[in-house]
Amino acid sequence: MKQSRIIGTGSCLPERILTNAELEQTLDTNDEWIVTRTGIRERRIAAEGQYTSDLAGGAARQALAMAGLEAADIDLILVATVTGDLSWPATACLVQDQLQATRAAAFDISAACSGFLYALSTADSFLRAGTARRALVIGAEIFSRIVDWQDRSTCILFGDGAGAVVLEMGEGAGQLLGCHLHSDGSQWPLLYQLGYGSRNPAGDQSRNPEHPFIRMQGNEVFKVAVRSLSEVALEALEAQSLTVADVDLLVPHQANQRILEATAKRLGLPPEKVMINVDRYGNTSAASIPIALDEAHRSGRLQPGHLVLLNAFGGGFTWGAALVRW
Ligand code: COA
Repeated sequence: MKQSRIIGTGSCLPERILTNAELEQTLDTNDEWIVTRTGIRERRIAAEGQYTSDLAGGAARQALAMAGLEAADIDLILVATVTGDLSWPATACLVQDQLQATRAAAFDISAACSGFLYALSTADSFLRAGTARRALVIGAEIFSRIVDWQDRSTCILFGDGAGAVVLEMGEGAGQLLGCHLHSDGSQWPLLYQLGYGSRNPAGDQSRNPEHPFIRMQGNEVFKVAVRSLSEVALEALEAQSLTVADVDLLVPHQANQRILEATAKRLGLPPEKVMINVDRYGNTSAASIPIALDEAHRSGRLQPGHLVLLNAFGGGFTWGAALVRW
């Protein structure tokens, strides 16, 4: 049966590593607190002059090379991001230009940390409808430029990076079995960034009493995330008449290690079936799933026939799950 297939993966991480020990120099925090509460030991920080589209382009080139394709073979580019180069145009358009993917339609998807799954599902719909044949689905973020580096409760959590997959319609390995997405807009004040927009007109300082950085009520986010992630994972499995026992690898959004462990425990999934790299990259928002997927693939942790469960939770609130037969 013809379905969307993942035929290439790629990732791109900035070289600069920011360790917890370095954060101790500028913040009232310590390595032990950060590791115990989040599992994060270090994160990557984009260099000056390095933009979200650069990381996205780097990940896309790797994914195209693995798929054995040229940029001209792509007819859809989706970039999941909430930290694009500009308010608009879309970062996807900048990536299209960078790659010279001249045949591709390009636009961004804004679903915060769930963005990659939203983009994957959107690309899958285009492919199934016959509107596109091959899509680049990218998650790319530079959160280091929207966190308040004086706020120890948020800045320690995030990092920069990008991951990408190439999706093609056809038969064979990498079949996307289904995507399940949800949102609850009533919860948006628990996790957001004000930025510029109709609520905060550009240049009007008198109307901007809030600081422009990311804002989060971490405790509340934590509780809702664990419940929602396990519920949507079961929903995705049940839709395919599968159970948790069928899952070979969970590749979750890397929010923090305690959320990952609590979700796995709730699902009854053993720790060795959970892909974790949050210790090295922190929370890279929409980029975390495709980065983790690429690492799992290139390291040989993913084998042909494996059932891979992807799941994510983020601002909005948004959450979702997808299943892939590798
Ligand atoms: N270093 C040291 N102490 C810190 C600190 C830091 N980096 N950040 C916060 N604290 C302090 C707080 O000020 C508070 O001190 P107080 O008791 O004197 O007031 C104390 O630690 C406990 O704070 P609290 O916010 O209750 O901690 P927590 O156990 O909830 O952990 C998070 C905080 C952010 C790690 C946790 O809530 C979390 O992971 N939430 C989910 C966030 C997330 O993943 N968001 C993205 C979803 S996609």
